[in-house]
Amino acid sequence: MEVFNFSANNSILSNFVTEIRDVKIQKDSMRFRRNIERIGEILSYEMSKNLNYSSINVITPLGEKTVPILNDKLVLCSVLRAGLPLHQGILNYFDSIENAFISAYRHHLTKEDFEIKVEYLATPSLDSKILILADPMLATGNSLVAVYDTLKKYGKNKQIHIISVIAAQEGIDFVSKHFPKNTNLWVATIDQKLNSKGYIIPGLGDAGDLAFGPKL
Ligand code: URA
Repeated sequence: MEVFNFSANNSILSNFVTEIRDVKIQKDSMRFRRNIERIGEILSYEMSKNLNYSSINVITPLGEKTVPILNDKLVLCSVLRAGLPLHQGILNYFDSIENAFISAYRHHLTKEDFEIKVEYLATPSLDSKILILADPMLATGNSLVAVYDTLKKYGKNKQIHIISVIAAQEGIDFVSKHFPKNTNLWVATIDQKLNSKGYIIPGLGDAGDLAFGPKL
């Protein structure tokens, strides 16, 4: 798996990532969602440089020009519920992308031990399409692998791009072991470790709760 880590170079992206981490700012859930959306927009733009284009002729009021236009058929799949603001950011750039939604949640067996449960899926066929997986927090990588194992049954995709906001190195290593070799990861930043509950340290906390409020 090739990893594109956008914290390697300074850009405005790091302002948005700082705001979603900062305990004084992240509690404003509207701002939290919008920042994740903005990160999704930037990572989409960067990922778009890796897609396939063909040439068309565009007629302007004053002439004609041959221009490149996106050729790939894309399906965007988000992991509910934390993936929704990132999903919106990606949708903002890819006008005619198809959409899939999947649920993957941590079912706790003990306080620290959990398994990933996938219960809901709505997807178009993935045959010959580019699959984009949106998951803001790539922590253990267990949810992404569970999602991929489920989606595999719905057609043979051409390639997979994972878009993530914060990833832990451990999760990247796990995903890279279980996904096809030509998978790309587009990530705003990478943190060093996970705590015993599988949260990214320093990370930002629970992305789903920050975006949508606490759950039972
Ligand atoms: N999901 C989150 O929301 N935060 C983490 O740190 C890990 C998984």
